[in-house]
Amino acid sequence: MGPALNIVGRCNGAARRVPEWMLYAGAGGYGVWLFYAGLTGGLGVEPIKELEHRYGMAGLWLLIAGLAVSPLRSRLGLNFLCWRRAIGLAAFFFILCHFLVWLLLDVQQPAAIAKDLIKRPYITLGMGALILMLPLALSSNNWAMRKLGPLRWRRLHQLTYAVALLGCLHYLMQLRGLRLEPLVYGGAIFLLLALRFLPRR
Ligand code: HEM
Repeated sequence: MGPALNIVGRCNGAARRVPEWMLYAGAGGYGVWLFYAGLTGGLGVEPIKELEHRYGMAGLWLLIAGLAVSPLRSRLGLNFLCWRRAIGLAAFFFILCHFLVWLLLDVQQPAAIAKDLIKRPYITLGMGALILMLPLALSSNNWAMRKLGPLRWRRLHQLTYAVALLGCLHYLMQLRGLRLEPLVYGGAIFLLLALRFLPRR
């Protein structure tokens, strides 16, 4: 037990030493760099599709990372709570970029946007997930936390579960043919949600 506790303690200490602003700078920097790479030919022959892909994947990974914070703490004692807000806001940032690339660079015409939103179920689901993320992003600040109080704030933020499930379903549905990757992400989301409800030893 000793060495394991030592590793946990070291990880927790290291996490506390990385300030929130560094995570914001990292996410913002990566987002801007991707856009720049797209503009300057660094994202291959289909830069818009590639941008959409990279922003979407970054958003999904961060949603899963955000869901992992609580179970990691309750099951293993690893405490990354100090990063949770930044992880959630970074996920929102990438999904918003993903949406804006689709809206402004991919489909562009209003008629095609409306048609996609109604006729393509995976776009409808993705849009649903983004809309659910809005109150979460807007309430991820100290003022909103105080106004809502801990109970209501926690209830509201349970929407993250629905966002992650919708986001993963959206990813699965837009693929042509079955692939392992989205199933792995879906499995990880189910496991992380189940760990919240399964009793602890
Ligand atoms: C939580 C919300 C969302 C998540 C996690 C998410 C994530 C993803 C992921 C991982 C992909 C696969 C990328 C690829 O392999 O190319 C994808 C594709 C796509 N997403 Fe989203 N997305 C979300 C919301 C949205 C929204 C709001 C829209 C637009 C209304 C959208 C439009 C698209 C489109 C058009 C594609 C397919 C691109 C193609 O045809 O290759 N997504 N998304």
